[in-house]
Amino acid sequence: MRVNLSRGDITEQRVDAIVNAANSSLLGGGGVDGAIHRKGGRAILEECRALRDSHYGGGLPAGRAVATTAGNLPARWVIHTVGPVYSTTEDRSEVLASCFTESLRVAEELGAESIAFPAISTGVYRWPPESAARIAARALSTAPVRVPRVEMVLFDEDTLAVFQRAFDTR
Ligand code: APR
Repeated sequence: MRVNLSRGDITEQRVDAIVNAANSSLLGGGGVDGAIHRKGGRAILEECRALRDSHYGGGLPAGRAVATTAGNLPARWVIHTVGPVYSTTEDRSEVLASCFTESLRVAEELGAESIAFPAISTGVYRWPPESAARIAARALSTAPVRVPRVEMVLFDEDTLAVFQRAFDTR
């Protein structure tokens, strides 16, 4: 699967679905999560609350993905996924890989033709970008799911360079 890498703000991407680096509560936070809720508006939070009240009473587990409206954003949907917090004692690579493959699966179910990912877990959740980039590259290239256009949107030049190296040498 070909992945386009770029530097930018995920909330501005003109794709069918953008992926949110959420937390299990689905009720917002900082970073990507904060930007999406702030710019996307209340409709996103209302659907997240409805998901908590219906299917995810205990919160969305790490590695899983669920979709809501994108509200005021250019995208049609937000796919919320919960990355693993980086651990030096436990290998959570499969959970991080699952964020990518599960988000692709949800995108395909929605009929999305395009999807944009941020660098999940590399911010507040402290996952080293080099490792996260390798996991993302492997997960996206081996995913059994096909979405015609896949974007990775990196927030700064350093992270973009790290991801470019990983995706070129995948
Ligand atoms: N567009 C694209 N990338 C962004 C944006 C943005 N608007 N804002 C931040 N980033 C980048 C960060 O620089 C980092 O590389 O997204 C990556 C993920 O960072 P976080 O948003 O902190 O996500 P994560 O590390 O997965 O931590 C998730 O943080 O915001 C809370 O509620 C969220 O508890 C959850 C946790």
